[in-house]
Order: sequence, then C-alpha cells, then structure tokens
Amino acid sequence: MSTSNRPAVLDLIGQTPLVEVTRFDTGPCRLFLKLESQNPGGSIKDRIGLAMIEAAEKDGRLKPGGTVVEATAGNTGLGLALVSRAKGYRVVLVVPDKMSQEKVLHLKAMGAIVHLTRSDVGKGHPEYYQDMAARLAGDIDGAFFADQFNNPANPWAHETSTGPEIWAQMSHDVDAIVVGVGSAGTISGLTRFFRTAQPDLRFVLADPVGSVLAEYTRTGQVGVAGSWAVEGIGEDFVPAIADLSAVVEAYSIGDEESFASARELLRREGILGGSSTGTLFSAALRWCRAQTEPKRVVSFVCDTGTRYLSKVYDDQWMLDQGLLKRTVFGDLRDVIARRAADGNLVTVAPTDTLLAAFQRMKLADVSQLPVIEDGRLVGVIDESDLLLRVGADAGRFHDLVTAGMTASPETLLPSASIGRLEEVLDRGLVAIIADDAGFHGLITRSDLLNHLRRTLT
Ligand SMILES: Cc1ncc(COP(=O)(O)O)c(C=O)c1O
Repeated sequence: MSTSNRPAVLDLIGQTPLVEVTRFDTGPCRLFLKLESQNPGGSIKDRIGLAMIEAAEKDGRLKPGGTVVEATAGNTGLGLALVSRAKGYRVVLVVPDKMSQEKVLHLKAMGAIVHLTRSDVGKGHPEYYQDMAARLAGDIDGAFFADQFNNPANPWAHETSTGPEIWAQMSHDVDAIVVGVGSAGTISGLTRFFRTAQPDLRFVLADPVGSVLAEYTRTGQVGVAGSWAVEGIGEDFVPAIADLSAVVEAYSIGDEESFASARELLRREGILGGSSTGTLFSAALRWCRAQTEPKRVVSFVCDTGTRYLSKVYDDQWMLDQGLLKRTVFGDLRDVIARRAADGNLVTVAPTDTLLAAFQRMKLADVSQLPVIEDGRLVGVIDESDLLLRVGADAGRFHDLVTAGMTASPETLLPSASIGRLEEVLDRGLVAIIADDAGFHGLITRSDLLNHLRRTLT
C-alpha cells in the first residue's frame, strides 16, 4: 500500500509517455503518440476505472465488499477489474462476443465474472451488452453500475489527467488531437480541458466505417450503423456524454486500413498498439498530410497490441477475415485457408511421431494435417486416425505418422466444382486439392463456411 492507503499499483495509472512518429510521412506536421498502452492495465481505460470507482466511493454508491458492474468492450473492464481487485471489490462484466480472447482471458485471470453477450444486436435488444449490464446491476445487492456511457467521472478523468498531461508534454504547443470515440469520455474530457487551455485546438475524429459518429459530426444526422472489427471505438448511437463540438474533421477508416496501419506502426516504429490504434494512426496521417502549414499533432495508442496477437498480428486470422490480400484464382484454391503457395501450410512428415502430429494440430487449431515427404503429399492424418491408433494404448503416440495416416487419399483438381467439393465434405472427408503442379492445400467444412462468409458484402 502507498501512504494514501491506496494500493501502489494504482499510482502507476496515467503519466504515460509521449513519443514522436519519425519513420512515416507526416506531411508538414509533427505527430506524437501518447502511449496509453503503458498503463498498468494496458489501456487508456485504467484512468476512468480509477476515477469512476473513487467517485462512487466518495459519494457512497460503492461500499466495502460491494460489486462493480459494467458493460464493456474489454478495456474498461480491465481498468475496473484492476482497481476493484486492488481495493477488494467484486467485478461483474458484460462483454460483447466480438472481443478478443486475450481480453476475456485477462479479465477472468483478474477474478472478474464475465458474461459474454451478442455483439450483433443493438440498443433495446435484451442481449444488448449495456441493457444486460443495467439489468444485472439491478439484480445484485450492493452493486455499483459504473455505466461509463453516462458517468460524469469518465470525461472528468480525461479533463483532469489526460488533458493536462498532453498540455505539459507538448510544452503548451499543440494544434490538433486525433481521437476515437467509444463512450466519448476521452473526447469530451479533452474538449473541456482545452476549451480553457487552448480554445482553438482542433479535434479530428477517427471513426470505423460502419459507426454513425463521423457522419453525425458532419451532418448532425444519426444514420444506420453497419458492423466493424476494430475494438473499442465507433458506435451505433451518440453517447449521452459526447461533446463533439470541437471536431473539425472526421475520417471513416475501414477495418482493412486500420489493421494494416497498426501492423505498419509496429514494423516501422516498434510501437505495439491495438486495432483502434490503427484507425487513429491512419486518420492522423491523413490529416497531417492534408495540411499546408506545420502543425503539432497528438494521437493515442489506446491499448496494447499484446491483447490482439491472435487477431491483428496473426496472418492466418487476417486472411480468414479477408483483411489481408492474397491471390485470387477463381477456383477451389480460393477456398483453401492455409495455402501451400502462401507458405502457411502446417504439415507433418511420415517420419514424425503421432505425438508430434497431435501437438502440431493443437498448436495450429486444426483437426487434420497433410503428410508431406520431399515436397509431395503422401497422406493425410486427422484426429480420428490418431484416436484409432492410440485409443487403446497411449504408448502408441510414439508410433510414426506413416503408421496412422491415410495414404494416397483421393484428391480434387482446383478446377472441380463447389458441388464436387460439397460431395467430398458430405462424406465426412477433408478435400485435398492437388494437380500436376503439386499439392495446394486442404479444404474442411469450416474453410468452406469461412469462404462463403467472406463473399458476404
Ligand atoms: C481501444 C479504445 N478504447 C477506448 C477509446 C476511447 O474511447 P472513449 O470514447 O470511451 O473515451 C479509444 C480511443 O481511441 C480506444 O482506441
């Protein structure tokens, strides 16, 4: 405990570093990123986790032994869980199911009780995450519903910490801030702080394509929301606490650009941010490059990219989502998830053990592997082959793959029809795509479903 009786880790929230972008074309501008990823819970939301809990303690809404309840895309939950657990409160969180597995695992590891709910339903639906959290809070004795979307301590945290820090770190010389909006706490708090500190400071909104906010800042109209994969920013409504009055420009950034931008930021600058960092960074670069006069611009790395390693930074996930470009052949090779030609095939050799085959399947999260010898396909091994072999005697895990695989399996040409592919899959088999040029890859039912989903517009 620190001297204030507040757990010392909470004193590490805020005072995050500001770093200049040096390896991108920023036009006539200098662009600085505030690394909110360096907060102890890994995101900008630690600030509001602390502010909302301490405000509730002060006015008696949260008492010793109480429960903190929230609807959260993950980061607010992590911030609240960090503060709650340090101070001895229970935490119950409602999280939409599009959120990354890393966030959910992290929440559970901190002792939070997590209710996953649908991310494809809007306000008013009983499974909408905010409505569900409000209901849960009503049902739990001693519950405090943090309600970041309506809680004044949310923008207040940014008005009294994020804003003054930027102002000091930029030596009172800043022209624009590029920001995303989730609950609108950041933009509203910063707007309030800079209205006094520097009234002509401009705000640039970075919004995912599909969110209604960019259009709202331009026209005052709330359109029909779409969907997007970037986490933490963008809304299908205008949050009650939103003050968007200082926004001079809004950019709608598509998922593909956001994800590519986050990856590029890591490659060139060594800064590991989450998916929304890509959205903000893209918007910041666009705005900077459009300027004709030098400007000093600040944006954010709102959370750490470590919680998106299985998404933004996983090539296979990016390919599955259609977020990384790959060659289109116009035949069954387009349905293969892991193509030999792309170099991301997971294989096994006939001389490997069944144990090695099983471990490789687990690691790659697949149920079968092609067996390759000297660059040629010689068989396929799947979970049923393994079970058949080791079911009665686990010692047989040490047998060689050659003993358990299906040798010389039936293959399909890339030019075969989807109907032929479905026939093979209907027989419970995996389809093997090969021709004179060699083995191209396997197609499972899940690959076909994923391919069909990618064709959705
Ligand atoms: C991951 C993430 N969470 C939250 C925010 C800010 O959201 P809010 O409007 O809730 O302050 C951002 C802003 O860029 C973000 O990237």
